[in-house]
Amino acid sequence: MCGIVGYIGEKQAATLLVDGLKRLEYRGYDSAGVSLMNGKGVETRKAKGKIAMLEKAISSQPIHGKVGIAHTRWATHGPPNECNAHPHHDCTGKISVVHNGIIENYGPLRAMLKKTGHTFVSDTDTEVLAHLIEAAFDGNLEDAVVDALALVEGTYGIAVLSADDPEKIVAARKGSPLLIGIGEGENYVASDVAAILAHTRQVVYLDDGEMAIVKRDGYQVCDLDQQTIKKRVNRIEWDLDQIEKGGFDHFMLKEIMEQPHTIENTMRGRLVTEEGFSKLGGLNLTMDDLQNLDQIIITACGTSWHSALIGELMIEEHARIRCEVEYASEFRYRNPIVTDRTLCVVISQSGETADTLAAMREAKRRGAKTLGLVNQVGSTIAREDDGGIYLHAGPEIGVASTKAFTSQVIALALLTLKLGRLRNMSVVQGREIAQAMEALPGQIQSILDRAKEIEKIAEAFVDATNFLYLGRGYNFPVALEGALKLKEISYIHAEGYPAAEMKHGPIALIDADMPVVFIAPHDSVFDKVVSNVQEVKARGGRVIAITSRHEDSLDGKIDYEFRIPQTIDMLNPVLAAIPLQLLAYYIAAKRGLNVDQPRNLAKSVTVE
Ligand code: F6R
Repeated sequence: MCGIVGYIGEKQAATLLVDGLKRLEYRGYDSAGVSLMNGKGVETRKAKGKIAMLEKAISSQPIHGKVGIAHTRWATHGPPNECNAHPHHDCTGKISVVHNGIIENYGPLRAMLKKTGHTFVSDTDTEVLAHLIEAAFDGNLEDAVVDALALVEGTYGIAVLSADDPEKIVAARKGSPLLIGIGEGENYVASDVAAILAHTRQVVYLDDGEMAIVKRDGYQVCDLDQQTIKKRVNRIEWDLDQIEKGGFDHFMLKEIMEQPHTIENTMRGRLVTEEGFSKLGGLNLTMDDLQNLDQIIITACGTSWHSALIGELMIEEHARIRCEVEYASEFRYRNPIVTDRTLCVVISQSGETADTLAAMREAKRRGAKTLGLVNQVGSTIAREDDGGIYLHAGPEIGVASTKAFTSQVIALALLTLKLGRLRNMSVVQGREIAQAMEALPGQIQSILDRAKEIEKIAEAFVDATNFLYLGRGYNFPVALEGALKLKEISYIHAEGYPAAEMKHGPIALIDADMPVVFIAPHDSVFDKVVSNVQEVKARGGRVIAITSRHEDSLDGKIDYEFRIPQTIDMLNPVLAAIPLQLLAYYIAAKRGLNVDQPRNLAKSVTVE
C-alpha cells in the first residue's frame, strides 16, 4: 500500500528519497511523488505509474534541496494519475503533505474548506489535510498540524513540510505505521524500515496518537496535546541484502528458496526435542493462564488465514483445546463469544493489516488474552498484543506471501507442542513431532533442489484459464493456499476445495481443460483422496498430484506427479506448500507477469 519516506540533513534529498521509495515498491502503488524545500519554497514532482516515471520527471526538471518528503500512492479516492499522486498542497503551495490511510470525514471537511475559499485540485481525501493545516498555520507547523488533526476522523500516517517553517518535518500517526530513522546530523521519516535501512538501523516507532517534530540534529515525540513522550530507540537487525534480490529474478523466488533457513530461524532456540517441548519466551502467559484456556480463536486474513486453518487442526488434534478460525474482517463486526479464558491468536506477516489489528483490539476489549504470530518486528500488532511469537523469517518483499506462510505453520506447531505438553500429550508424542520438525529444513531443501521438475510442469499449464486445488484434512488449507498463490500472481482463476466436496458442485467444471492439483501425500486420509482423483480422471480432467511415495492405487490416474518427502500429517502443509509456490511462480513468470507486484494488490493492507 502507500509508502512514505522523508529526509532532513545535509545531503541532496531527491535521489535519496527516490531510492527510499524504490525500497517500498514491493508494497504496491500506482503513482509517486516527491517535494523538496529548495531554499525559496516547496517544489514538487509527481508521476503516474512506476517510480521510473518519477525519475524521468525529475531528470527532465531537476529539483534540489536537503529537506523533503516522498510518497508512493495506492489509489483509494480518485484514479491513479499525476494530480491525485502525493504530495498534496494547500492553496499557497507552501505546505506539502504525504499521507497513508483514509480521512473518513473528508467530504464535509472539503465542503467546509471550500466555503471558506480553499481551492481543491485533486479527488483525494489527503488534500483536505493540506488545507486544514494552511487554515490553522500561524508560523509554527506542529501547532497547525495538531489543530488540523483535531478535526479529522479516520486513519493517517502523515509527513508535512512548510516553506514558512522550513527546518523540520512534522509526522503524525493514527492507524498507519510510521517511524523515525535516526542518523548523524540527519534524520528520516518512513512508513516502513526498508525505506531507510541503507542509511540507519536506529529507529523509533510512533504509536497511535503521537506526533514527531524531526529536525537535522534531533527529534521530539509528543502526543496531540504536545506533551513530550519518551520513546525507546530500536535497533533493526535486518541486513540490506535481505531486502535485495541477491541474483534471483524475483523476490518471490528468492523467498521461496530461503525457506530451509527461515523455518530454521522460526524454530531456533525454541524446540526442545528431547523433551518434546517448546520454549516460547514471549507468550507473557502464566502457567495458570495456559492451563485454564478453554477456547482459542485464531484470526487473520489471506495466506495468514490459511495457516490459521492448519493451526486449528493441530491444536484440536494434539492440544485438545477448542479452536475456531475467523476471518479478521468478519470477526471485528460480529458478536463473538469471547471470555477471559479465551486466547485470541492473531497471525500477520506484516503486523499492520488493518482488519487483523481491529480484530485483535476487539478480542482484547472483550477480555481475551492476545498472542501475535508476527514477522515484522516492531509492527503495530506486535506492539499491542499481550504476547507473541516472532516468526523471524526476515523481510518478505514479494507481495505473494511464501516464507511467512511456512514460518507461521511452524510457529503454530511450536504453540501446539507447548499447549499439548501442558495437557495430555506424552513426551513420546511430543518428541515425535519435534523430530519431524527438525527434519523439515533438509526436506524443504531436497524439494527446492528439484525446482526444475516443477518448472517443467508449469510449462504445460502456462495457458490454462482455470485450476482446481483439492486436498483433505491438513491439506485442505494447502489447497486454498496453492489456489491463492496462483490466482494472485498469474491471474488464472483458481479454487481450493476439500477434495470430497468436489462432487457437491465443482465436479461440473471438470473437463480436459481443467487442471486439478491434488495434494495427496501419504497420510491418514490418503485412500479417500484416491477416489476423488479417480472421479476427476473419469471425467477427462488433467491431474497434477503432490504425493510422498509411489502408490499403486494412483497408477494410471495422474498426468504429472511431484514427490515430497514423508513427514507426519500435521507438518505436510509445510512441505506441500513449496511445490505449489513454485508452480504458481513459474506459471506467472512464464506468462511474463510482474510476479513481485501483481496488479491491484498491496503487500500490507492497512485500510479496511
Ligand atoms: C497472499 C498474501 C495476503 C496476506 C494478507 C494478510 O499471498 O500475502 O493474502 O496474507 O493480506 O497479510 P498479513 O499476513 O501481513 O496480515
